[in-house]
Amino acid sequence: IDQSLIRNFSIVAHIDHGKSTLADRLIQKCGGLTDREMKEQVLDSMDIERERGITIKAQTVRLNYIAQDGQEYVLNLMDTPGHVDFSYEVSRCLAACEGSLLVVDASQGVEAQTLANVYQAIDQDHEILPVLNKIDLPAAEPERIKAQIEDIIGLDTENAVEISAKTGLGIEDVLEGIVKYLPAPTGGNAEKPLKAALVDAYYDPYLGVVVIVRIHDGVLKKKQKVRMMRTGATYEVDNVGVFAPKATYVDELGPGEVGFLIASIKEVADCAIGDTITWEKNQTDKALPGYKEVQPVVFCGLFPVDAADFDDLRAAMGKLRLNDASFTWEMETSAALGMGFRCGFLGLLHLEIIQERLSREFDLDLIATAPSVVYQMTMTDGEEIELHNPADMPEVTRVKEIREPWISATIYTPDEYLGSILKLCQDRRGIQTELTYVGGRAMIKYELPLNEIVFDFYDRLKSISRGYASFDYEITGHRAENLVKMNILVNDEPVDALAMLVHRDRAEGRGRQMCERLKDLIPRQMFKIPIQAAIGGKVIARETLSALRKDVTAKCYGGDASRKKKLLEKQKAGKQRMRQFGKVEIPQEAFVAALKMD
Ligand code: GTP
Repeated sequence: IDQSLIRNFSIVAHIDHGKSTLADRLIQKCGGLTDREMKEQVLDSMDIERERGITIKAQTVRLNYIAQDGQEYVLNLMDTPGHVDFSYEVSRCLAACEGSLLVVDASQGVEAQTLANVYQAIDQDHEILPVLNKIDLPAAEPERIKAQIEDIIGLDTENAVEISAKTGLGIEDVLEGIVKYLPAPTGGNAEKPLKAALVDAYYDPYLGVVVIVRIHDGVLKKKQKVRMMRTGATYEVDNVGVFAPKATYVDELGPGEVGFLIASIKEVADCAIGDTITWEKNQTDKALPGYKEVQPVVFCGLFPVDAADFDDLRAAMGKLRLNDASFTWEMETSAALGMGFRCGFLGLLHLEIIQERLSREFDLDLIATAPSVVYQMTMTDGEEIELHNPADMPEVTRVKEIREPWISATIYTPDEYLGSILKLCQDRRGIQTELTYVGGRAMIKYELPLNEIVFDFYDRLKSISRGYASFDYEITGHRAENLVKMNILVNDEPVDALAMLVHRDRAEGRGRQMCERLKDLIPRQMFKIPIQAAIGGKVIARETLSALRKDVTAKCYGGDASRKKKLLEKQKAGKQRMRQFGKVEIPQEAFVAALKMD
């Protein structure tokens, strides 16, 4: 294909501004699918994605479009993951395109993720076409939002298109805009050895591992032997194709083109996103720039409620890893929770998604321990270690310094919630770095320890602002802080799953809160139970759960047998969800609830 007839583009937007709806419209307009095949949202293929309305993995679709100039163009739409947890994947996806559509809800305006995403596109030197969506809404103010885009982002909105992805109004203008204002790929040379970017990889039950590639130099065909430059692995290409949007095999992919290749690759983990693919023998001289190893930043323990499910859990995690290489784990044994896994995630949303998939797709009942960040430690003997699990904290006397990850957060909010949001950030050890007003909304920048965000910052922010505030963050580095390990003791036994690292100044408050919570959550027993929070040997908070005076079990007189049986079954199920600990049973909800702050 003539490169000048190709347009590779992505859509950047804040969540809910209509990215998927627009993508569907573009696909529909370019006739890729019949109406019956046109499922509600083609690009978001996983259930959870659809339910939460977020895009997790990048996908690509090839659209054939005959423009008003009479030429037939190939438009490759690369769908980027919409969340900050996947920001490296977003950057690799954007690197495969020359331009972006910036979709902004004309009734809402610019939001935190609009900014984060558009800046990533600008970093990749993209040409950007602003698209004002939802102009069918009475509250839409396209002129005001255009001014906002010019003010805040500094983009020219002269060519901006106004559309309604819902009604289909203006979709033709978007396609024309793509052809007219977004650049074609340049510089690729079909005569040179293959140089292709590994944009994404996922596991398909029918095709196996599917690798999304963007060709820079050379031509990719089936039967060729290729090499992944980072990992050194070599494969014979079984097939190459494009998504139109159904997977369709093609003879070859040349410079500027985007498509997929299938080889006998076992798992997605063998494909490093951002890697360069070349020929096995005749190699390209230089790998593409920008490769980065993806590191998990948040860890938590996952344990089966019923120990007998351990093998099922292991099998389920293996399956998930087939299509999500960024999810890592190792075995972990906890005195309180038994055998399980310590899992690493790219961020909080990633953690939630994996937990949800495990329980939903694999029907597993899980206990998750408190999420923890990765701490760096310098020991007194000079050794450097990384701590993924507070339960593994070494003797305090051996630790010289503990450093925790800090983030830079951007929050957008209507003015009326500003006070409570500032207080929330302040309570979480935040340091305000910027406060400005743009188009009637406040933009706040804060530096915050990631540790303080991992619990329930999103939830708090949402409820404080009634859902109006938007939030985005990036990790900026590690800082040495006065951190201590706090143990929670139930009946004088430390519960390892509840151990955590906290800032010394916050320890008392946090400890008291945990004890109070647990007191309400742990069922009373026939004896008195002390619940304590301690740092080293020093108890900093204490509650006592009083003993049961008499048997309060409701007696079931008469009634029919099936009802009794039901009750018994219910009771049995309830029992299974408890964890016997130091003769005290701690229900699963207690673990989860105890870890929420407010
Ligand atoms: P993520 O996948 O979470 O990034 O969201 P998205 O940006 O893809 O948004 P999506 O396309 O799922 O649209 C969000 C909501 O806005 C849906 O309920 C759509 O039906 C609605 N919506 C999208 N476009 C329009 C529009 O032009 N007008 C109106 N009224 N609603 C729209």
